[in-house]
Amino acid sequence: MEDPKMALPSDSAQSPDDSPSNLDSAPVRAQNITKQYTGGTFTAVDDVSFELNENQITCFVGPSGCGKTVTLRLIAGLEYPTYGTLTVYGKQIMGPGPDRGMIFQAYTSFPWLNALDNVAYGLKIMGVPKAQREEKARKFLKLVHLEKFENYIPRDMSGGMKQRVAIARTLAQNPELLLMDEPFGALDAQVRWEMQEMMIEIIERDKKTVVTVTHDIGEAIYLADRILFFTRQPGKIKADIELKFKEGKRFARKEDLICQPGYAELEARLFAMMREEIHGRQNEESAVCVADLE
Ligand SMILES: Nc1ncnc2c1ncn2[C@@H]1O[C@H](COP(=O)(O)OP(=O)(O)OP(=O)(O)O)[C@@H](O)[C@H]1O
Ligand SMILES: [Mg+2]
Repeated sequence: MEDPKMALPSDSAQSPDDSPSNLDSAPVRAQNITKQYTGGTFTAVDDVSFELNENQITCFVGPSGCGKTVTLRLIAGLEYPTYGTLTVYGKQIMGPGPDRGMIFQAYTSFPWLNALDNVAYGLKIMGVPKAQREEKARKFLKLVHLEKFENYIPRDMSGGMKQRVAIARTLAQNPELLLMDEPFGALDAQVRWEMQEMMIEIIERDKKTVVTVTHDIGEAIYLADRILFFTRQPGKIKADIELKFKEGKRFARKEDLICQPGYAELEARLFAMMREEIHGRQNEESAVCVADLE
């Protein structure tokens, strides 16, 4: 992975400015961002612009290699755009920050710490006293239904439990933006939907602004208020889809969403779009069909 310091936004780029008149209400604003590698010969993300809305769950969907993770890492401040401007509440992203919490696909717990200490770890780094951070960590362990397992170390936990610990640790730091890169990708189907439902419960409770990445169309429709669908490499935004059929609601149980009018049409549309990106866009008939559904 490239060293982020090597790619810090240049002096000529817009300087960070957090004076009240310049504060932007958009949690994230991407203006014409391009991310290139290998000295500019490979373009992962190509001239992408979007604005995220407060308290919305936005899901990045698209074929493998289309730049979903790269875009999320740019928002996290783990990498920097080659061109374009990327801001969080109007401030140019200059690196990772406590305002953004990232949850990765791979479990990211410390193997030698038990669940309680893993969740409390970020708070310890932030200087929160022991009694306070343990109280907070217990609260978040309860939220992810692990209150009985605070003494377990990761070796003795299932994949789902480990991912719950990672989620609790991120939430305990109270980020304004929750960034999730295929957070349930390593889990089996049953644990996966339990985790999706748990996530909806948490997001509804804490009113978070969330960006989540998935390959899984069912997961995207269940979690998202809005889907940004990426084209295959180089990644551009193919479609920006508000999930209007949900009528602003989020569903505690997946089966209640699946029988909503509009679900099947959206699912079919997303499968068609995915097929189009995977197999190329030569099939004009299919392209017209997708456009008709816009
Ligand atoms: N540090 C890097 N150096 C060179 N190329 C990179 C780097 N990081 C990502 N890429 C390339 O950028 C492209 C987009 O990668 P990215 O990880 O964002 O894909 P993705 O959409 O998340 O795919 P997947 O669904 O498989 O996770 C890929 O072709 C990848 O090889
Ligand atoms: Mg990825």
